[in-house]
Amino acid sequence: MGNIIKVQKGTKDILPSEIELWHFMEQKALEVFTYAGYSEIRTPIFEATELFARGVGDTTDIVNKEMYTFEKSERSLTLRPENTAGVVRAFIEHGMHRLSAPVKLWYKGPMFRYERPQAGRQRQFHQVGMEMFGIEQPTADAEAIAVAIRYLNMLGLNDLDVEINSLGCPECRETFKSKLKEVIKPYLGELCEDCQNRFDKNPLRLLDCKVDSCKEIYAKPEIQEVIQSDFICKDCAEHFDTLKMYLDNLGINYTVNKLLVRGLDYYNRTVFEIKSNNLGSQNAVCGGGRYDSLVRNLGGPDTPAVGFAMGMERLFSLLEEKQNNKLTAYVVSTNIEETIKLIAELRNNGISADFDMTSKKFTKQLEKAAKVANFALILGEDEIANNTISIKDLNKSTQQTINRNELKTFLQNIK
Ligand code: HAM
Repeated sequence: MGNIIKVQKGTKDILPSEIELWHFMEQKALEVFTYAGYSEIRTPIFEATELFARGVGDTTDIVNKEMYTFEKSERSLTLRPENTAGVVRAFIEHGMHRLSAPVKLWYKGPMFRYERPQAGRQRQFHQVGMEMFGIEQPTADAEAIAVAIRYLNMLGLNDLDVEINSLGCPECRETFKSKLKEVIKPYLGELCEDCQNRFDKNPLRLLDCKVDSCKEIYAKPEIQEVIQSDFICKDCAEHFDTLKMYLDNLGINYTVNKLLVRGLDYYNRTVFEIKSNNLGSQNAVCGGGRYDSLVRNLGGPDTPAVGFAMGMERLFSLLEEKQNNKLTAYVVSTNIEETIKLIAELRNNGISADFDMTSKKFTKQLEKAAKVANFALILGEDEIANNTISIKDLNKSTQQTINRNELKTFLQNIK
């Protein structure tokens, strides 16, 4: 036998045992985007290198360090590291700016970045995303965030944090950049190599450096004062405030993170990320924002745009974790006789359930429930006296009390 050839570092086979979840993610994407008026677009996996240099930006890590670039017939080609630039190219090439706005497109497929592989970070990975063209108003930004959340909720992912920020427009950002450079300059010699390189080319990127010694410097009061200042101009501030109002109206919880700058150069005004606490250091499942100059920079007519992309491997690991481990129900009660009866009833009805056999305190039982189950079924004195049961959704942290005879139907529906 010859040498065994293995899969390349940072790439993975998607195996038959995993394909069902991939189909599920793809099917839900088709459903959610179609319902919201988006059409699917499929662009080529390689494009002219120049598209990404001009589109993503030649000061970014993606373009400088991470592209898979090769030559064929004296043309420089690159495997797409992301899909916004490719979709914008297609938008211009097919004259989609002549269609009535908004033009709403979605996509899914493999992307390629030569990064250091680690959990949640691969060299070939998949994204599902959307791009919306033609709307300048913050309604489009709110819709993009709302569609992202809707998709995640449809997958059953609810425990997520939305972070937003406004990078302002090129004009107000310039003033911010020069102020930032001014206060950081005295520490230039102490910064890491990446930050030293970015200092002139792309000072905003200093803010999301992960090196501890840099983070300590940026935490200094005089630097924080600049970072936390409201540098954006009146129009940009109004755009951002309206977006926040729409999100409030939609009941979407978010935090404003002034350090959120994103790793691609094309953004202006709104940027956002959706993060999960269950993913370790690579915790962003979704990243996006507004890019009003990109269509023009790539040779098309002035067209505002906003979009996002999600890492499907990261979604996959969240879904896999959810799918395998948890019981449907954990009974929380100090009345052992009632508990044993209920457990038998649940299991007889095909509902996975467990309980505490050692009569621990109520709060301890609830803590255990949160670790091992999706729902805590609470049987306290009141519930037993009234023949009711309280159900706590441990993923959403909501609670309701229902009659005991409604329990079976309730659990069958959410099993
Ligand atoms: P991005 O933040 O570079 O944005 O990537 C979006 C998402 O793709 C990330 O939040 C992450 O979930 C996933 N991702 C990125 N790199 C990797 C990797 N090496 N391995 C696994 N997952 C990864 C963009 O790509 C923009 N095009 C998003 C956008 C669309 N902005 C406007 N429209």
